[in-house]
Amino acid sequence: MKNIGFVGLGKLGMDAAEVFATKNKVYGYDIYPRASDTVKVCDSVEECINKSDWIFIAVETPHSKEYDGSVPSAHLQPKDFNYEVVKSVLKEINQYATADKNIVLISTVLPGTTRREFDNLLDKHTLIYNPYLIAMGTVKWDMVNPEMLIIGSKDGNDSRVNELINMYQDIMENNPRYECGTWEEAEAIKIFYNTYISAKVGIVNMIQDFAMKIGNMNVDVVTDALANATIRLQSPKYMTAGMGDAGACHPRDNIALRWLAENYDVGYDMFSTIMGARESQAKNMADFLVYQAQENNMSVVIHGKAYKPDIEYCIGSYSTLVGHYVKEAGIDVKYLDPLADDTTDCIGSIDEPSVVLMAHNRKITYGYVTEHSDSDLSDIFYTDIPHNSIIVDPWRKMDKHSKDYKVIHYGNSRPE
Ligand SMILES: NC(=O)c1ccc[n+]([C@@H]2O[C@H](COP(=O)([O-])OP(=O)(O)OC[C@H]3O[C@@H](n4cnc5c(N)ncnc54)[C@H](O)[C@@H]3O)[C@@H](O)[C@H]2O)c1
Repeated sequence: MKNIGFVGLGKLGMDAAEVFATKNKVYGYDIYPRASDTVKVCDSVEECINKSDWIFIAVETPHSKEYDGSVPSAHLQPKDFNYEVVKSVLKEINQYATADKNIVLISTVLPGTTRREFDNLLDKHTLIYNPYLIAMGTVKWDMVNPEMLIIGSKDGNDSRVNELINMYQDIMENNPRYECGTWEEAEAIKIFYNTYISAKVGIVNMIQDFAMKIGNMNVDVVTDALANATIRLQSPKYMTAGMGDAGACHPRDNIALRWLAENYDVGYDMFSTIMGARESQAKNMADFLVYQAQENNMSVVIHGKAYKPDIEYCIGSYSTLVGHYVKEAGIDVKYLDPLADDTTDCIGSIDEPSVVLMAHNRKITYGYVTEHSDSDLSDIFYTDIPHNSIIVDPWRKMDKHSKDYKVIHYGNSRPE
């Protein structure tokens, strides 16, 4: 049992702290009031620092507001994240710690940041960079069932890393790989993992675009074949075309990586291509909705505004990106989402037959979490959908033979 401190008890920090609290004594501090049954929330950062031998930093590394990917951003000037909050916490640790501490930074940073921005802020403490591969809505499950733990130290050989691995082995439910290296290697594994997902989603959605334009082609037939090509093409995850990559991390990571490509003058910018493709794919989907709306004299409703089901966060949402292009084409667009933290243009019910984009699909999003049963993940309408509406299903899972609605499988252009 260790004494662990968490500075930053937000979306990632609180859940992570509570997972550690199942086996350790965990203290926490946040500038906003937070409460937990298992984490002892301290009144000051000084108390949290001095009660803990291991201090995990989970504060935000924000991007500028318009850089989250929920509206077009590929045209904006590339920019790094803002590291001021992390720096101020490191300075506080340096100032208040009365003994040598193990500092573990889990916030997301671009490769090269820890050495350039943080190393000189700590006099005697060990700094470890340990980002998580975790998604909102499944933070606790992802944390104890990761496919790998990423741990970086200054020279890649710090003996404290083994101590940290022992702490993780105590709480893991699976038997993950531990990928250890230098700070830069750990920073790169994390952020390029995210980019790889964005690229994968970009490729399957590109195939969806071609399916819609060429005809006689169901995108799932193609992507299922590629997903099962496990000799060369890896796992089937993120191999279903549908809505684009979204959320608080992936779009903004790629946007910030454009800055890295420019800053290190690598001569090309793949991230811009990935983000530009994501925006064109959203526009293609929007054009399809607009066409349906104009042909049938209907307005457009997007079923799901948050970036995925069962969470409230609209940051980096692909629904709002699609909605942006629908609106730009002059068609009224509304959102249905009982949880959305941004209720702009949200409605509670639909009065007239509409073109409804089924953006949320719980099985696609959460099907990999083994503790969910199929019935847990069954799809629900957030409200009654008026008969004769046109439902555009970008995941192609809804029954096409509904007598109440016309269901269109976006991405399947085979003739009926
Ligand atoms: N949320 C995720 O799923 C996720 C996954 C992987 C990585 N990350 C990364 O983790 C970091 C944190 O993300 P988040 O989603 O938890 O952000 P968040 O904004 O929800 O949480 C950050 C918390 O830090 C607190 N804070 C700010 N300044 C502080 C200070 N000086 N002292 C103490 N607390 C302070 C804030 O009040 C907030 O509660 C980011 O770098 C993010 O990119 C997040």
